[in-house]
Amino acid sequence: MKTTTISIAILTTIMLIGCGKNDKTTTDEQGGSPAGGDGLSQTQLTHGIGPIQPFNLEPLDDARAAAGKEIFEVKCIACHKIDERLVGPPLSGVTERRSPGFIMNMILNPDQMVKQHPEVKAMLAQYYVPMTFQNVTEEDARSILEYLRTLKSKDLTKGE
Ligand code: HEC
Repeated sequence: MKTTTISIAILTTIMLIGCGKNDKTTTDEQGGSPAGGDGLSQTQLTHGIGPIQPFNLEPLDDARAAAGKEIFEVKCIACHKIDERLVGPPLSGVTERRSPGFIMNMILNPDQMVKQHPEVKAMLAQYYVPMTFQNVTEEDARSILEYLRTLKSKDLTKGE
């Protein structure tokens, strides 16, 4: 009886090891993401994936920032605070760590950003929830970006 149990245990172990190996080979053969890269261009890494091409900012437009604040408070506030983690990361200083294109593509095309961009995937691992599209137009997203520019990063660092 004992011998049978042991044999089964050994057999199972051998099978498990075998399966492990097979899984690996299959992934490689299917051409899963190549080690160390996500198949994104440098432009996509810096400016995000989506409809917005890299662009440079003009001096701050206060009226537009005010409009963006209003949209933000309707569409984004459920998940984002300025200085503290909520469902998503705090957004003060975000324009200092991300390019304008990255931020707008995140707002307009979060699904693909979450699935494909390595830094957004890393955020997902921290926040567990994938950001979703909030039905904003490109114009809305641009105004929100203007508002985000007014949120200074020092507000973030003085927290705990
Ligand atoms: C359902 C909750 C949710 C809503 C609504 C939401 N977000 Fe997010 N957002 C997240 C999460 C969570 C992340 C972190 C990445 C992830 O897990 O998808 C994120 C990430 C971001 C980032 C990237 C931050 C960084 O440090 O790179 C920006 C910018 C952003 N959100 C802006 C917005 C704006 C603007 C809106 C409103 C139009 C919005 N989000 C609405 C949950 C949300």
